[in-house]
Amino acid sequence: MLLFKTVADLQIHIAQQKQNGRTIGFVPTMGALHQGHLSLMKQSINENTATICSIFVNPTQFNDAEDLQKYPRTIEKDIELLTQVGVDILFLPEVNEVYPDNWQTPSFDFQGLDELMEGEHRPGHFSGVAEVVYRLLDIVQPTTLYMGQKDYQQWRIIQSMLTQLSSDIRLKRCVIEREIDGLAMSSRNVRLPEEARMIAPNINKILELARQEIITLTIQEVLLNARKRLNEIAEFTLDYFEIVDAQSLQRVENKDKSESLVACTAVYLANIRLIDNIILR
Ligand code: PAF
Repeated sequence: MLLFKTVADLQIHIAQQKQNGRTIGFVPTMGALHQGHLSLMKQSINENTATICSIFVNPTQFNDAEDLQKYPRTIEKDIELLTQVGVDILFLPEVNEVYPDNWQTPSFDFQGLDELMEGEHRPGHFSGVAEVVYRLLDIVQPTTLYMGQKDYQQWRIIQSMLTQLSSDIRLKRCVIEREIDGLAMSSRNVRLPEEARMIAPNINKILELARQEIITLTIQEVLLNARKRLNEIAEFTLDYFEIVDAQSLQRVENKDKSESLVACTAVYLANIRLIDNIILR
């Protein structure tokens, strides 16, 4: 695997690759890689002639300085994993490479996609995500961008950004990788104490129940049941459980008025915030 730290070096290499007609798959990450990330890499490797992964802990998407400081940094292990899986290039920039002095923050209109759920609970988070993904795409100019469904709202916002830019970069939404007991893979899972780790799979179980119930119940009933189930588990502190339209990410009152619905949730467990979602239909 080749490692580039500067935009200039990376771009010279990419230009050569493109001259040879290679397709480029790109997986942006903040490191602390786990099997969920690796499944994105594997999909990109299968579908492209070259795969680039970036590791950059983006300061502009953290609304809490302590969260940024505490974000796990495991670069040596990450490099080992990326090498094992067969990623071609790792882009590992410093902040001043990503955001040079003359950097202008782009402005997008997400038409409410960024307001609910994570947007409501983490102000400024999505403008930071859009900013860094915009910048990284401008640097890498991939054929296809790979993002995980685990961050459904993030994926949808980036889809909207690409539409606003009339970009011809393809965006793939990759399925949520889960542990055997159903817990969605996340860098935060390792921070769960043993007892909390045993309880965590209930999040997925409750999402699954919502998927079954939406066939026969109203949205209000499904929401009520899911929130009740989550609140009944004493170790959970429910942040939100919402059922939203898969496109607009707005709350839906009547299930027949939406073609596709997603249930999204965030809960605190042992002071760790876990998010998950399920496409209801
Ligand atoms: O999902 C993430 O890890 C980050 O939000 C991303 C897309 C790499 C941007 O920093």
